[in-house]
Amino acid sequence: MKIVIAIGGSILLKEYDCKKFQEYSAILKDLAKEHELFVVVGGGKPAREYIGVVRDLGAGEAQCDDIGIEVTRINAKLMLTALGDAAYQRVPHNFQEALEFSATGKIIVMGGTEPAHSTDAVSAILAEYIQADKLINLTSVDGMYTKDP
Ligand code: UTP
Repeated sequence: MKIVIAIGGSILLKEYDCKKFQEYSAILKDLAKEHELFVVVGGGKPAREYIGVVRDLGAGEAQCDDIGIEVTRINAKLMLTALGDAAYQRVPHNFQEALEFSATGKIIVMGGTEPAHSTDAVSAILAEYIQADKLINLTSVDGMYTKDP
């Protein structure tokens, strides 16, 4: 199966340590034996903190998003380091690159793409773009809300 897995930064980067990256990479390597994997990594706490700093500097929303995207790509690089040879060692910056890089047969790891949405949206668009069989969203949110809890 072709599977997109979104890993929220809030669960991957609760603490600034390597544990979660090691744990998730072991699971991903195992899954990759049978499936084609595309992983989308979120920004979490470091993204929020950096966005806070750049917002205080007077940046507009799109520029704040741009900083957030850079942080998701750093997180994607950390995941690539954990995955080693099982992953293609470049972070796609858009959906076309993700598709191109997947020709290597290796795990693809990406972060954000462009301002005005989140990595949840990236994972949904990516799933549609590559015609994935399954989209799995790993998040710290308890469920789907119809209004602000
Ligand atoms: P996230 O998708 O991680 O946002 O991107 P989040 O809602 O904080 O999710 P968790 O906490 O990781 O689960 C971090 C920020 O990067 C920008 C947005 O500003 C977002 O809030 N971003 C990310 C974009 O603008 N475009 C993208 O494609 C991805």
